[in-house]
Amino acid sequence: MTQLLFIPGSLREASSSRATVRALVSRLEAGVTCQVADPGLLPHYNADLDKDPAVERFLADVAAADGVVFVTPEYNYSVPGLLKNAIDWASRPAYNSVFKDKPCFIVSVSGGALGGVRAQAHLKYILNGMLARPFTCQEIVIPQANAKVADGHLADEAILDFAELNLKAFIASL
Ligand SMILES: Cc1cc2nc3c(=O)[nH]c(=O)nc-3n(C[C@H](O)[C@H](O)[C@H](O)COP(=O)(O)O)c2cc1C
Repeated sequence: MTQLLFIPGSLREASSSRATVRALVSRLEAGVTCQVADPGLLPHYNADLDKDPAVERFLADVAAADGVVFVTPEYNYSVPGLLKNAIDWASRPAYNSVFKDKPCFIVSVSGGALGGVRAQAHLKYILNGMLARPFTCQEIVIPQANAKVADGHLADEAILDFAELNLKAFIASL
């Protein structure tokens, strides 16, 4: 049974990232276990808090996952602080963390026209620095994403079809 950990980069109720996570989880067949992390439970990075239960749980979840799926918006041309904080927690010890050799899949969203492609590039750079393994495929970007969310659903079947196709290729590679 393949186990995926989804990490959304936004906390808000009507988040397009979270709506995308829900849509992708609902499209995966039996045989894949999907868990969704809550990066909002993590304290700001502080090495003195490494026994915090939320931190321990998050690191254990990353370690247990066969693959990690990031679905994140772009904030100020980069990765939101929320997501960077979660990644920082799971990045120690350097070069030998739970992210070492971890297969990762990235979807980015934005309210604008570029779909968070700059955040996506930064995220790949960060993952490479942790010796993680970002999956190589055509970039999955969802532009004008917040305008596409109604009642918690992302109304863009074409991009969801494309994301699903690539996510299934990622799963097959695990
Ligand atoms: C602090 C902040 C910074 C943002 N910076 C960018 C940006 O650099 N590029 C962009 O395309 N959108 C930017 N946006 C707009 C987000 O892409 C948009 O709000 C998106 O819907 C957020 O994702 P969510 O729907 O998952 O919450 C920013 C939004 C916020 C709140």
